[in-house]
Amino acid sequence: MAGIYIHIPFCKKLCHYCDFHKSLSLEDKSLMINALVKEMEMQNEFLGTEQVDTIYFGGGTPSVLSYEETEILFEGLYRNFKISKNAEITIEANPDDLTVKYLAKLRKTKVNRLSIGVQSFSDRDLKLMNRRHQSKTGLKAVYNSQNTGFRNISIDLIYGIPGMSLETWENNLDIAFKMDIQHISAYHLTLEPDTVFSRRIKEGNMKMPDEEISIEQFRILIKKAGENKFLHYEISNFCLDDFFSKHNTNYWKQVKYLGLGPSAHSYNGNIRRWNVSDNKIYIDAISKNKIPFEKEYLDNRKKYNEYILTSLRTMWGIDLKFLEENYSKEAMDYCLGLSKRFFDYGMIEKKEDNLVLTNQGKLIADNIISELMM
Ligand SMILES: C[S@@+](CC[C@H](N)C(=O)[O-])C[C@H]1O[C@@H](n2cnc3c(N)ncnc32)[C@H](O)[C@@H]1O
Ligand code: SF4
Repeated sequence: MAGIYIHIPFCKKLCHYCDFHKSLSLEDKSLMINALVKEMEMQNEFLGTEQVDTIYFGGGTPSVLSYEETEILFEGLYRNFKISKNAEITIEANPDDLTVKYLAKLRKTKVNRLSIGVQSFSDRDLKLMNRRHQSKTGLKAVYNSQNTGFRNISIDLIYGIPGMSLETWENNLDIAFKMDIQHISAYHLTLEPDTVFSRRIKEGNMKMPDEEISIEQFRILIKKAGENKFLHYEISNFCLDDFFSKHNTNYWKQVKYLGLGPSAHSYNGNIRRWNVSDNKIYIDAISKNKIPFEKEYLDNRKKYNEYILTSLRTMWGIDLKFLEENYSKEAMDYCLGLSKRFFDYGMIEKKEDNLVLTNQGKLIADNIISELMM
């Protein structure tokens, strides 16, 4: 079992909160496609004999790719990797790219899951974030996707936005849950360095919401998801039935993955590596048959910490048996010992052999995770 991530490092407009690697200039798009196919050829042994069950086109903005460019990437993928017949194949898309014409073509490719960057249905918030689209475009993107036959649709929403009222957030969720979509990723706004938002805050021209507002918005999210039968399977992820993001779930379960393209990360169980975050350097290096990456070996302590970080955020939690079998009895005892006070506070509960966050614990997940680390 393995996954492939492909980073498409282009955006037509820069959002004020985002620090993902991307370039505003689309000039190098075809050079980038060629380089990505070449990297597939150079990396086709990274996953060994593992079958690929998930492919994820992320960005940047993968929906800036034309049908022809997407097909070139698929041809490279199927030529170089063993991809399972029922692979989950996701593309991240910006709402204003999702016209009926574009979607009808996308349906002809192997893509079977859409992750649409709606972010908000409030025009005030979309403008503040410097998004390309307006509220009605977000609605239209989802309807167009459904009408062209996509049946596995996720949308991204952001809360904790400066000045966002509780009513706006409730309204966003009410619209989202009425949309007949299968999955929602709802992220609290993170203030990233070197973004317009962090500069505005530093200069005193903007203020992040008080913690109580953020917590109340998270509570509303959990409540509305429950009322709409959406499973809260990871801190920021909710789905109907079994419409989990298989790709992201595999990250959290330590499954191997290969990342292609500038800034993409790869993991093979022992090594984590990441490609350079620069389009020109990446394209130049690949043309000289070199993959520009850095890497780190993961010792047992790092692996333990990564396991705690990713697993405790999910509804499956920390599997104590997995800790004992894959790390050591000492690692399991260490984790159990540190968790004790969170049991007493009602923040963690034990479900069979697993330690799982309660709803109360989810509110301070990051603090609990850092306390359980080595
Ligand atoms: C890398 S973006 C790519 C998606 C696509 N380009 C779009 O914006 O519609 C993936 C998602 O990460 C989330 N995101 C990015 N930066 C964030 C931040 N600073 N805080 C919270 N969420 C963020 C957004 O919801 C976004 O849709
Ligand atoms: S959120 Fe998406 S569209 Fe906006 S800058 Fe980031 S990657 Fe580009």
